[in-house]
Amino acid sequence: MSQIFPKSLYLHVPFCKRRCFYCDFAITTGGENLKQQYVDVLCQEIALTVAEIPPIEPLQTIFFGGGTPSLLSVKQLEQILQTITKYFAIASNAEISLEANAGTVSLETLQGYRSLGINRISLGAQAFQQELLDVCGRGHSVAEIYEAVDAIQKAGFENFSLDLISGLPHQTMTDWQDSIEKAIALQPTHLSVYDLTIEEGTAFGKRYQAGDQPLPTEDHTVAMYIAAHELLPAAGYEHYEISNYAQSGYQAQHNLTYWHNQPFYGMGMGATSYINRQRIDRPRKMREYLDAIAQWQSSGISFTAPVIDDREELMDTLMQGLRLAEGLSLKSLQSNYGIELCDRALQILYPYQAKKWVKLLEQSNDLRIMLIPPDGWLFSNIIIADLYEHL
Ligand SMILES: C[S@@+](CC[C@H](N)C(=O)[O-])C[C@H]1O[C@@H](n2cnc3c(N)ncnc32)[C@H](O)[C@@H]1O
Ligand code: SF4
Repeated sequence: MSQIFPKSLYLHVPFCKRRCFYCDFAITTGGENLKQQYVDVLCQEIALTVAEIPPIEPLQTIFFGGGTPSLLSVKQLEQILQTITKYFAIASNAEISLEANAGTVSLETLQGYRSLGINRISLGAQAFQQELLDVCGRGHSVAEIYEAVDAIQKAGFENFSLDLISGLPHQTMTDWQDSIEKAIALQPTHLSVYDLTIEEGTAFGKRYQAGDQPLPTEDHTVAMYIAAHELLPAAGYEHYEISNYAQSGYQAQHNLTYWHNQPFYGMGMGATSYINRQRIDRPRKMREYLDAIAQWQSSGISFTAPVIDDREELMDTLMQGLRLAEGLSLKSLQSNYGIELCDRALQILYPYQAKKWVKLLEQSNDLRIMLIPPDGWLFSNIIIADLYEHL
């Protein structure tokens, strides 16, 4: 593939007030006295990384993800952004996002974030029924979701996203429709709608197996997916990615980097970077992460991950790109990976065209390969697994 330089930067902020029962992200609870040390080490990591992989292009997107980045003070975020500005050029229209939890933001902190140049907030709401928030072990109330959105709007963020989860224990279709309607009423520019995954090792993983009561049945979760797929576009949100909806012009630019399988800097505990065809993982535990950066500091960075070959990169590009409604250009796949590998992929996808899960759409002298929603998106795992096995 032709050389593309990273234009996106992900920074992981691993602090949470408590661990939600479904969540297996790399986080730490109770790290109050660790926050400043972590911010200092993250800034060291930025400096060390750019010394090894100097930025060529200005950053188009910066994403503070978590964990709960809104648990950092304005001053701590300022320190990180000042470090970034020292080493990177940032495009004047860059999207700078921050993930926030209800119950952790105030008008004052949000105004502070905005004054730093952060221009997009992604707020985890998950559900609008107190019983369901409690079932998930969320550390906030429904009232705090409303307070957070009110503060986001008053602080002048016109671009904000809400996260919702379907398929929660005890969640009914009425709850789900109610959550969608309440989310729409708040007029976010973007919505992420996830189907609950039961992750091994989480509280839910210990309590439930897929199919167990009180989890909704598969038929119910499919119906919930279709309900979102119908209700949100009717309210003006384009279903542009399997789990994401946006008003026109508000697609998540940072996530598009991942879905287009383009390189990015990733820094912080548990973060992965993808540069020069190498995916480099940082340790997921705080002590190990801090030790790893101290080691980089004393003896230099060594990136030892294997280099991704053409087949694997094509696989990743298909896996990510098929998530998007726009699909992928066959011409550009062929020019990047060669006709033979692409023909093999097309052969694997052929039976799914008959099922009406996949289509090849003619567009300006090219063919775009895409999944057909909702079935192609609902069953995308089957298609991707087939590609993995046979490509
Ligand atoms: C990294 S979390 C950060 C957001 C923020 N900490 C919060 O929880 O509000 C991003 C989103 O992933 C989703 N998520 C996390 N674990 C999930 C799971 N097991 N199944 C489905 N969605 C999940 C939640 O909707 C969450 O808002
Ligand atoms: S607040 Fe977000 S990152 Fe933290 S445990 Fe809950 S879902 Fe995970």
